[in-house]
Amino acid sequence: MTGVRERVRRRWYTSTLWRWWNERWVRRMALKGMIWRTGNFAGTTWLGRPVWQNPLDAWALQEAIVHDGVDLVIECGTNRGGSAYYMASVFDLIGRGRVITIDVESLADFQHDRIEFLKGSSVDPELIAAVRARVDELAPSRTMVLLDSDHAGPHVLRELELYSEFVPIGGYVVVQDGCIDELAIMRDDRPGPLWALRQFIANDPNFEIDEARSGRYLLSHSPSGWLRRRS
Ligand SMILES: C[S@@+](CC[C@H](N)C(=O)[O-])C[C@H]1O[C@@H](n2cnc3c(N)ncnc32)[C@H](O)[C@@H]1O
Repeated sequence: MTGVRERVRRRWYTSTLWRWWNERWVRRMALKGMIWRTGNFAGTTWLGRPVWQNPLDAWALQEAIVHDGVDLVIECGTNRGGSAYYMASVFDLIGRGRVITIDVESLADFQHDRIEFLKGSSVDPELIAAVRARVDELAPSRTMVLLDSDHAGPHVLRELELYSEFVPIGGYVVVQDGCIDELAIMRDDRPGPLWALRQFIANDPNFEIDEARSGRYLLSHSPSGWLRRRS
């Protein structure tokens, strides 16, 4: 009897219906609850500094940096520098790596040996040229790109077109905050990042969505947000 019950349970927890239920309802309901409770993580901190990240998404970044051997992160959207500081802390612990972070504003009030702050629009050709020159100097073995600036769909799509060149085969562009396109409470900001990444994937066969990574912790702000370069 126990064996039968175990088999039924296993079938249910691996079924398409269970997955759909989790993605469509559990995830969205829980995410809304987390967003209301935390003010969309506006007051979240890392070692005392504000970091505007869902902690489960931050954890997934840490895992990827360590597991994939990432030694350069190019981040669009510095804000107060929290996510750059978080990733630089991870790099400190593993003894390698740098962060280049870009923002139209200078809101970060600190310096860090592993972080280079660039001021300007992430889609400005001069800024892109500066990033390219710096990447050439650093000659990283594995770059990861993190898109967390203006979340308007057309802007994110342009960033994807511009920054995908920095990602090596097997590497990732992480498109943050696609939940804008899913949650009714964010409908005023659409089309957002999820729209953009779907447009990009449809036109660039070199990239594919890594759903396993994107959905690893279920309650992510970035559905389908991990784009892997396959060629
Ligand atoms: C969501 S915040 C970034 C949060 C930060 N990554 C963190 O986790 O702490 C978005 C930032 O993008 C910046 N931004 C908006 N438009 C931009 C653009 N065109 N280029 C670069 N940064 C931009 C804003 O000034 C804002 O600071």
